[in-house]
Amino acid sequence: MILQTRDIGKTFGSVLALRGVSMGVEEGTVTCVLGDNGAGKSTLIKILSGVHQHDTGSYLVDGAEVRFASPREALDRGIATVYQDLAMIPLMSVWRNFFLGSEPRRGPAFDVARARRVAAEELRAMGIDIRDVDQPVGTLSGGERQSVAIARAVYFGARVLILDEPTSALGVKQAGVVLRYIARARDRGLGVVFITHNPHHAYPVGDRFLLLNRGTSMGEYAKADIGKDELTTLMAGGAELEELAHELRRE
Ligand SMILES: Nc1ncnc2c1ncn2[C@@H]1O[C@H](COP(=O)(O)OP(=O)(O)OP(=O)(O)O)[C@@H](O)[C@H]1O
Ligand SMILES: [Mg+2]
Repeated sequence: MILQTRDIGKTFGSVLALRGVSMGVEEGTVTCVLGDNGAGKSTLIKILSGVHQHDTGSYLVDGAEVRFASPREALDRGIATVYQDLAMIPLMSVWRNFFLGSEPRRGPAFDVARARRVAAEELRAMGIDIRDVDQPVGTLSGGERQSVAIARAVYFGARVLILDEPTSALGVKQAGVVLRYIARARDRGLGVVFITHNPHHAYPVGDRFLLLNRGTSMGEYAKADIGKDELTTLMAGGAELEELAHELRRE
């Protein structure tokens, strides 16, 4: 187990964002965090990635308790997070964005030739088909941008890759592209934490499923213990959906 939380909790003023949530992340597996808007998904991964500190419970990395003071500290332990807005610069090229903040140097100068070559190689190694690494990132599709961010995290030695809703703004085809790179990162031995509210995205790629509802855990399931339909029903709150269907029915 690379990461583990035990009964972790977090409040913001009077808002109880998270209460008693336990989860684990193993290498070479995908842990999906599912839940409706406001369920606490982002809060949980912000604790994992050092943006927030937990108030209660414990957070362990490689079996030892940690409390990260910043995302940099988490990154130094190999915990990389890709946010929806991505922190990329749209007008800059793919290769520049790939190395943003970690530029390869040759003496005091930025080694442009090497950066361009490595970016192209790494994208190819992940099977990402970008025609031209000089292309501005802003001209890539949303799915391609997520893919570049995943390849970057893998290249810079991430052991854990956390993705906050990487597929939620994407169409079916592009979501499929991102899911494929999540699987690639997993096959390379990374522990992936994949946040989504879409069970259809989570189920094919996930090994474990943590369900959150209003800040509390509704359980962590191994894939063998839960079917897609059950996951979907749990997610939607089965009874509520039935009620809605009834309400929407024409008389
Ligand atoms: N910085 C903050 N200050 C105050 N309240 C916060 C803060 N961050 C989150 N919250 C609250 O905590 C709760 C959980 O929010 P969180 O963003 O973790 O949900 P989420 O599951 O990621 O939702 P979504 O699917 O909409 O992204 C919400 O009620 C939210 O308003
Ligand atoms: Mg969120």
